[in-house]
Amino acid sequence: MIARHSILFLLAIALSGFALHAFGGRQTPPARTAAAKPETMTHPYGKTAEGHAVTMFTLTNAHGLELRAMTYGAIITSVRVPDRSGALGDIVLGFDRFEQYLNDPPYFGAIIGRYGNRIAGGQFTLDGRTYSLAKNNGPNHLHGGRKGFDKAIWQATPSAGGAAVAFSRASPDGEEGYPGNLQVRVSYTLTDSNELIVEYHARTDKATPINLTQHTYFNLTGDVAGDILGHELMIRADRFTPVDATLIPTGQIAPVEGTPFDFRRPTAIGARIAQPHQQLANGNGYDHNWVLNRNGQGLEPAVRVVEPKSGRTLDVATTEPGLQFYTGNFLDGTIKGKGGRVYARRTGFCLETQHFPDSPNKPAFPSTILRPGQEYSTKTVFTFGVIKEGRAE
Ligand code: GLA
Repeated sequence: MIARHSILFLLAIALSGFALHAFGGRQTPPARTAAAKPETMTHPYGKTAEGHAVTMFTLTNAHGLELRAMTYGAIITSVRVPDRSGALGDIVLGFDRFEQYLNDPPYFGAIIGRYGNRIAGGQFTLDGRTYSLAKNNGPNHLHGGRKGFDKAIWQATPSAGGAAVAFSRASPDGEEGYPGNLQVRVSYTLTDSNELIVEYHARTDKATPINLTQHTYFNLTGDVAGDILGHELMIRADRFTPVDATLIPTGQIAPVEGTPFDFRRPTAIGARIAQPHQQLANGNGYDHNWVLNRNGQGLEPAVRVVEPKSGRTLDVATTEPGLQFYTGNFLDGTIKGKGGRVYARRTGFCLETQHFPDSPNKPAFPSTILRPGQEYSTKTVFTFGVIKEGRAE
């Protein structure tokens, strides 16, 4: 009898040990029980100056992780994930009230289109015709122009029985100077494996450049009181694309070896950011495109971030060839975000999976041209996790 009890006791310990291992550390139950069903809730959030109603969607998975996204800009406004003690914290920059998103913030949480990042001189030539775009970033065109996809109202279809929402919009021929009527669809799915899956689809009726990305600023501490320089970053890339002083790629594809751009081994973001290096000077920190090491066309691991204090981790896999890693160098403390927090320089970082900047003017870069009859289809998966105390991998 005693023996049976002790076997049961040992079994209970073993099972709890397994649970600890599976959830990656000391874990108090999150807000909801593990048996909860994933769901998507819909609620009104605000109105634009033109009177368009904006709707918010709250996606919750079976473990209580929660993501909020709205129809304005398909903006992700919050992502709440547990730290190593199981406490949920919001790991993205943004605002509490809708009106604050209308003050032209630096693309917090938004979908960027039609073209993520810069096009030199606001101009490109396609099939013999030259197109002029807004120069909304010094001499260059940035993130789709004056009113890019980040400022559009999207149609939304929330999932009936899961944690997902699909946003779609028709970008008319000539919008912001781009050719072709473009039908775009972007979906966010929060899985019970603690992944955020972002899928992008588009079709056009005229050839057009397209480079869609997600511009969330992460700070895995769950508290934007401090900078992100202590986060440890790994990028699977042997090469990057150096830029000129206006952040346009020079066209060169340079090795990261021996430079502050070598993140092939986990390294604190801040370890080398202040080194005297011409590329860091041009970028005002990290604001560059890494050429991801790829084997094929599919979804491949690209990035791992570990925040040692909270224990939170973020893994990114993508079908895209490039990653714009941006360390929030232009945040200058003039923006007050959630809870009145001041967003100072480098309090958030972006991991923008995409094609390379200025590809329409760089024939040697992978093409960003979508033609009628083709389908644009890319996917990026963000996986949220935790590490145990003292482990940095
Ligand atoms: C991108 C760019 C940066 C900056 C931010 C928005 O990440 O690469 O240079 O423009 O967007 O502030």
